[in-house]
Amino acid sequence: MVALESTLRILSLGAGGFIGSHLASHLLARGHTVTGVDIHSDKIGELLEHPGFTFVRQDIRDTGFEVERLVAEADVVIDLIAYANPGLYLRQPLDVFHLNFTENMKIAEACVARGRRLVQFSSCEVYGKTVARAAPGKLIDPEDPALATFREDETDFILGPVSKHRWIYASAKQLLERVLHAYGLEGRLDYTIVRPFNFIGPKIDYLPSDTPGFPRVFPHFMEACLKGTQMKLVDGGRNRRCYTDIEDAAACIGLIVENPGGVCARQIFNVGSPKNEVSIRGLAELMRDLYATKLARPGARLPSIVDVPAREFYGPGYDDSDRRIPDISKARTLLGWEPRYDLRETLERTMRHYLAANGS
Ligand code: NAD
Ligand code: UGA
Repeated sequence: MVALESTLRILSLGAGGFIGSHLASHLLARGHTVTGVDIHSDKIGELLEHPGFTFVRQDIRDTGFEVERLVAEADVVIDLIAYANPGLYLRQPLDVFHLNFTENMKIAEACVARGRRLVQFSSCEVYGKTVARAAPGKLIDPEDPALATFREDETDFILGPVSKHRWIYASAKQLLERVLHAYGLEGRLDYTIVRPFNFIGPKIDYLPSDTPGFPRVFPHFMEACLKGTQMKLVDGGRNRRCYTDIEDAAACIGLIVENPGGVCARQIFNVGSPKNEVSIRGLAELMRDLYATKLARPGARLPSIVDVPAREFYGPGYDDSDRRIPDISKARTLLGWEPRYDLRETLERTMRHYLAANGS
């Protein structure tokens, strides 16, 4: 680890979430101080006693929230707050827009007003679908990975129609990115945008039967393992993702926050593991195999894998990214970052965490 020249006072909005909790631990271990804002603190229980950590329990939508005061007290602001689960894009599209765009804009504008640097979380969802999915039957080699490898400053975005309201999340994130870019063009905001590619690790979401809501795919499959029930493959589990270990991700984002030599100014970074590509069917099979061979108690009932139509699982308005591979040459070149973990290792560690948390 490179020694720090100076430590930072960091304001992290959304510090109580999956990424925020790991990132706060990483930044504190690097010697920075962190003020974390969130509605929830269940994922950061161990940080609450840390001398470098201050927790502000706050709904940022409250009219009394003094965002500018907190921003003014920080050297750098990280904004992680969003509704980030596809089930919510289908059920509460307006809430997704208001939180992920309107409320996030207030944070950005406080950074403009106070001249503070902003690290804004966006998403790989902004890229949408591949050319191969948008133009079926028209390409010579639709499986060519180059068609699904997305570059921050060059790749066009392909989103579905308005009637597929899943895309309101990607649209809100995209618009936010474009507004930050415009502020940057006018020299009024020093920002860096992070586009995560399916981070995974301990503390990701929650088991669907534990908490009302709609978590991402890992907890659904984990619950099927724990209960010996069904892993449901939406539309046959044909779509692919590149899963990224949360520790690799935190290391990269830590560098982005520290911004050595100012290299991250007005940059967008893909943060992901191109080598960890897997179809959702492959993910289900890998998790079931890990569970059966390494984690299950003898005689435990194993989950079954079944297909389910998207409309039945999510309701109307669902659509999906078919494939998304991050081009990470920018993070490699500017930050010297390289993801280290392979998917099997990450899944085993994450599954062990869930087993321990559920007393198994
Ligand atoms: P998360 O849901 O675990 O974290 C979001 C946090 O924001 C939660 O702790 C939540 O309590 C908090 N929050 C929500 N509304 C709030 C409000 N009104 N006031 C205060 N706090 C509020 O999600 P995450 O996976 O940690 O994602 C963090 C960010 O990264 C999001 O912007 C998300 O869109 C983006 N992202 C994540 C991934 C991923 O792989 N996890 C991928 C792409 C983009
Ligand atoms: C999510 C969210 O959009 C964001 O948090 C973020 O931008 C992105 O992940 C990311 O992590 O990079 P997505 O990958 O579609 O997007 O989220 P999941 O809910 O985990 O779904 C992954 C795939 O599994 C989708 O194809 C979905 O249809 C499928 N799925 C989900 C199943 O087959 N079965 C399930 O039980 C749940």
